[in-house]
Amino acid sequence: MKVYLDNAATTRVDSRILAKIKPYFTEKYGNASSIHALGQEAFLALEGAKNLVAKAINGDSVNVIFTSGATEANNFIIKGVARANRTEKKNKIIVSAIEHPCVLESARELIKEGFKVEYLPVNREGIIEPEALRRLIDSSTILVSVMAVNNEIGTIQDITTLAKITHEHDAYFHTDAVQAVPYLKLDVKKMGLDFLSLSGHKFYGPKGVGVAYINRQVKIKPLIIGGGQEDGYRSGTYNLPGIMGLAYALELAYQERSAYLKKVKSLRDYLWQKIKKEIPNVAVNGSLKDRTPANLNVMFHSVEGEAILMDLSFKGVYVSTGSACSATDLRGSYVLQAIGLNKNFLNSNIRFSLGRYNTRSEIDYTVKCLADSIKRLRSFSPIK
Ligand SMILES: Cc1ncc(COP(=O)(O)O)c(C=O)c1O
Repeated sequence: MKVYLDNAATTRVDSRILAKIKPYFTEKYGNASSIHALGQEAFLALEGAKNLVAKAINGDSVNVIFTSGATEANNFIIKGVARANRTEKKNKIIVSAIEHPCVLESARELIKEGFKVEYLPVNREGIIEPEALRRLIDSSTILVSVMAVNNEIGTIQDITTLAKITHEHDAYFHTDAVQAVPYLKLDVKKMGLDFLSLSGHKFYGPKGVGVAYINRQVKIKPLIIGGGQEDGYRSGTYNLPGIMGLAYALELAYQERSAYLKKVKSLRDYLWQKIKKEIPNVAVNGSLKDRTPANLNVMFHSVEGEAILMDLSFKGVYVSTGSACSATDLRGSYVLQAIGLNKNFLNSNIRFSLGRYNTRSEIDYTVKCLADSIKRLRSFSPIK
C-alpha cells in the first residue's frame, strides 16, 4: 500500500484539472502576448484565469499577477514593496518568526541592504497575539508580512486583526496564503489585505505557478524584468497551462470546500485518536483548535523524526518532518522552537498532512506501520 500524507508539501494534480489544461499544451498553445488569433485566444483564457482567481479571493482581476510560484510571489512582494517605499523615515519591515524560508530569506536580504527587520513571536500554540504586533509596529514600518496558515503546524492566524493594526500605522499588509486554500475563506477586501500569495501545487493544481495579488495603489519594484508582461510587474512569457491549472484548481477547491473539510477533519481526528491509543509518549505540537483540519504535527518522545520518516517511507507511507524545504536540514524545526518546544524534542517530530485522496484504511495502515517503527526505534534509542 502507498499512503501519501504529505499534502502540505505538494498535492497530486487532480485528473479533472489535468484534462482541462491539456489543450493549453497541444491546441491553444499561443503566446498570450501575440497579436494573432491564437495569441488572442490565449490572452482571453489568461483573462478568464485572472477572473477566477479574483472571484475566489474577492479581489479585482487587474491585481492578479501570475508568478512561477509562491517563492517568487513572496520575494517580489516583500523586496518589491520594501525597496519601492523606502524613505528616510520608513525603513522597517515586520515578519513573523514562523514564516516560510522564502519570506525569512527575503527579509534577510533586506537587512543586508540596510533595512530594519523585526520578528513577531508566536505563543505556545503557534499564534501571533495582536499585542505582539502593537509592540513592534511604528511609523517607520513599511510592510508587515504574516502567513495565514503555517506549513508545519497548520496554525491559523487572525489576519484581519493584524491587517487592521498594520493599517492604523500607515503600513501595508501581506499574507502568504499558500497553506490556507481551501481551509480559510480568503477575502482580500474583508480581511484588509494589500498583498497575498498563492501557489497552485498546494491545492491539486500544477507546480511552478503562483499568484502575487497586489494593491496597485502601492508602489512595488518588479523582481523580474524583461518583456513587460503583467503591465511590467512580472516579465516572462505567461505559463498558460500552469495558470489555467491554478485557476481551475482554486475554483474547484472552494466549490468542494465543505465536503473536503469534513473529510480531512474526520481522517485527521481518526489518525490522532489512533496514534494516542497505539503509541505511548506522544504529543501534538501547536494548537489543535486554531489549525487547519488537514494538519497533525506530532512529537514522538526519544526517537528521531528522520528515522521515523525513512522507516515509514520503506513501508510506502510518505510523511514529513516539517516543511519540505527543511527536509535536508537536521538542525530541528525553527517553527517548533518558536512555539517553545523543549530543544531535546526538536528533532522528534512528524508532520502528517491529509488530503483529497486519503482513506480510512490508509490511516489504519499508517498507524500500524508507525507503531511498529516507533517500538523498534525506541528499543535502541539511548534516551528512555
Ligand atoms: C507557507 C508556504 N509559503 C511558500 C511556499 C513556497 O511555495 P512554492 O513551492 O510555490 O514556491 C510554501 C511551500 O512549501 C509554503 O508552504
